[in-house]
Amino acid sequence: MLVTRRVLLKTAAKLGLAAFALGTSKLAFAKPNTPTPSRRDTMPFTLPELPYAKDALAPFISAETFDFHHGKHHNAYVTNLNKLVEGTDLANKSLEELIQLSAGDASKAGIFNNAAQVWNHTFFWNSMTPNGGGAPTGKLAEKIAADFGSYEKFVEEFKTAGATQFGSGWAWLVLDGSTLKVVKTANAETPLTKGQTPLLTIDVWEHAYYIDYQNRRPDFISTFVEKLANWKFAAANFEAASAAKAA
Ligand SMILES: [Fe+2]
Repeated sequence: MLVTRRVLLKTAAKLGLAAFALGTSKLAFAKPNTPTPSRRDTMPFTLPELPYAKDALAPFISAETFDFHHGKHHNAYVTNLNKLVEGTDLANKSLEELIQLSAGDASKAGIFNNAAQVWNHTFFWNSMTPNGGGAPTGKLAEKIAADFGSYEKFVEEFKTAGATQFGSGWAWLVLDGSTLKVVKTANAETPLTKGQTPLLTIDVWEHAYYIDYQNRRPDFISTFVEKLANWKFAAANFEAASAAKAA
């Protein structure tokens, strides 16, 4: 259970990401209802289980892709991070603390890259759901219409961000202050270090889509938008962040 249940709950509390914690805890953790507010969320970090079966998103994302992307890539980030912090003065830091303290520090690039990739991937798995995609409803839909002009305009921005991220990276829907924005980040970079609250993300590293889409990244992004996006997760993140700001 280690990484993620406790780490994500702490993240949720800090960033208002209640849905992130709830979404990941539902299936992934042995003791999902164990409150640990006073415990520090430190290494050894562990690979969280997927919030759905590895074939649940087929044919849009295959089980083979999850075998590699979750079972190999995500797992390697967890393993690498543990090796990097074990026995150091950083061993008592949480995942989020490691991300924040290493961001922009070239001497800690390895820690940042692996810690952020652990966090980003867990967020990405929860940004997708079987029978997902299409337009959101409710307050988030109203906010998207207000801040982007329309859902279609949001989709256009999101697709462009993902398609134009040169090399590896991520496209995100974030809450920046009181405004929704689409942003893209390179490699392991995450909006967390920019004071933005992630609501939804897509991984556009080649390893995310090459088995199923080869070099057709735009097709992968379109499929994410139309078939996979977990708007329930994004809406819950939005409402939690809004509530946190109002408190
Ligand atoms: Fe990835």
